[in-house]
Amino acid sequence: MEAKFKPDFPTVTISEGRVKVVVPDLKAYGVCPSDYAPSKAPVFYNPVMEFNRDLTVLAFQAYQQIVSHEITICEPLTATGIRGLRFAAEIHGVKRVETSDVNEHSVELAVHNIALNGLQDKVSVKHREANRLLSEHSAPKKRFDIIDIDPFGTPIPHLDAAVKALRNNGLLATTATDMAPLCGVHAKACLRKYGGKPLRTEYCHELAVRFLAGAVVQTAARHNIGARILFSHCNEHYIRVYARISYGCQRADETLRHLGFILHCFKCLHREVVTKTFPDAAAMCSECGSKMDYAGPLWTGALFDAQFIGVMAAMNARRAFRNSSKIAKLLALTGAEADAPATYYVLDKLSGRFGLPAPAVAPFLQALHEAGYKAVQTHFSSRGIRTNAPASVMQKTLRTLAQPT
Ligand SMILES: C[S@@+](CC[C@H](N)C(=O)[O-])C[C@H]1O[C@@H](n2cnc3c(N)ncnc32)[C@H](O)[C@@H]1O
Ligand SMILES: [Zn+2]
Repeated sequence: MEAKFKPDFPTVTISEGRVKVVVPDLKAYGVCPSDYAPSKAPVFYNPVMEFNRDLTVLAFQAYQQIVSHEITICEPLTATGIRGLRFAAEIHGVKRVETSDVNEHSVELAVHNIALNGLQDKVSVKHREANRLLSEHSAPKKRFDIIDIDPFGTPIPHLDAAVKALRNNGLLATTATDMAPLCGVHAKACLRKYGGKPLRTEYCHELAVRFLAGAVVQTAARHNIGARILFSHCNEHYIRVYARISYGCQRADETLRHLGFILHCFKCLHREVVTKTFPDAAAMCSECGSKMDYAGPLWTGALFDAQFIGVMAAMNARRAFRNSSKIAKLLALTGAEADAPATYYVLDKLSGRFGLPAPAVAPFLQALHEAGYKAVQTHFSSRGIRTNAPASVMQKTLRTLAQPT
């Protein structure tokens, strides 16, 4: 039976995954093109994030299959409740989903949506500040298996409370949408929030993920907890990281060994990963001798776990989502990226830097393979190549391909 609910703002009922949800009617809020309707509405709702939610359902189902026990999930920034509802309706082995929001309208709408889907026994929503809800669950028997932090902007204010509310071996998933600080447009904000110096390079989206992953693992380490990144990805206006934590000082110490810096030469585009020491302010490029700049400290370890991605891909083969084809492409790309080196070259940047015509991706990859290098495409950029070939070889390959045959 539907709960009585009379919102004082325009709404529509939509279907996503296996749930039906009442959401604000965005047509009433996107009046001029510059309006970002989702955040103008009294309750946040962004239909474009369906892809993000589909992937999350898939990743959490993969995690549940791996741990193979009943799981509890917390989504403390829930808005309409759509995400938490989908977890309860679509993930096998979910015992309970706890959600909350500070916005009263959100809570009312989420209460209604829970009833609309008949999920009152599994999903609850509280009118709570996220950190307060998480803190109420920081004692041993009250912790969650999975926490999903899906904020406006940065998740940093919630990471400490989230880590403390996770069980040993639990999964922390988090979104960040503050791409300007993370990509180096607002360097001071990146330093303040993520504790590192950003760098405006063609692979700044990867650096953004590495800053977020770095913040997650450093937060965990402060509580004597280690972490491993199982999956991460970037879409135009947000990034997402999935980290599996494990309790123990030694695990935390091992994790911190992967924090470091990425050095970049703006002259020849050479890069280096440094994990031990603070980069020498006068570090010189080993390829061209120019002074190098750096980004960090950030996470220099793996951003993708091929095995975890394999489990997600096998589940996605059931094609349960509207976005299954798009997800399959992302999983194929990230699966191949899993054991490839950090950072990628964007062919247009490379050709622009050396004043040569931009080559197609396929022949460039083939030339690198024929020369004995590892080279794969990256999900971060359709024109990006992740390779162990040095910058000098990239330049040489570009020149060779630019020659008339
Ligand atoms: C980006 S929206 C969440 C979107 C939702 N997870 C989804 O998939 O549609 C962020 C939500 O967090 C809520 N919020 C912001 N700060 C909060 C806080 N400190 N505690 C709890 N909720 C908060 C906002 O009211 C908003 O509804
Ligand atoms: Zn150089």
